[in-house]
Amino acid sequence: MALERTFSILKPDATRRNLTGAVNAVIEAAGLRIVGQRRIRMTREQAETFYAVHKERPFFGELVEFMTSGPVVVQVLEGENAVAKYREVMGATNPAQAAEGTIRKQFAESVGENTVHGSDSADNAKIEIAQFFTDADIAA
Ligand code: TYD
Repeated sequence: MALERTFSILKPDATRRNLTGAVNAVIEAAGLRIVGQRRIRMTREQAETFYAVHKERPFFGELVEFMTSGPVVVQVLEGENAVAKYREVMGATNPAQAAEGTIRKQFAESVGENTVHGSDSADNAKIEIAQFFTDADIAA
């Protein structure tokens, strides 16, 4: 399979606990290459746009509050089958259900504060990458 890209966010619980290096070590050990990376403070508008698919869900308000509560690290990851591979490395949304060795099993505190985001399809990866990166920000 050809190289693929996915979009990742190290969420505010990761930056708050100084875990960005530890999470990146898991990402790189899985064979994913960090080809774009930036630490930002997400605006409310950016968070609402990014999670618009969830806007009718009861947790939407808390999710936007959390994502704007501290810095995040936005990333472009590249590798074979990167979208599916990163979902596997992240683990289940609820860390209590995440498999051993996954990022969420190792680091996440709750379903709301679950350390990482990863795109759920190649199409969404393209849309999400374009929300935060231009081609000039990515070096493969
Ligand atoms: P979702 O897209 O279902 O999960 P994933 O991040 O694994 O793709 O949900 C997006 C985020 O919304 C999730 O990472 C954390 C938050 N969330 C909650 O706070 N409570 C919930 O019950 C769910 C399902 C998600």
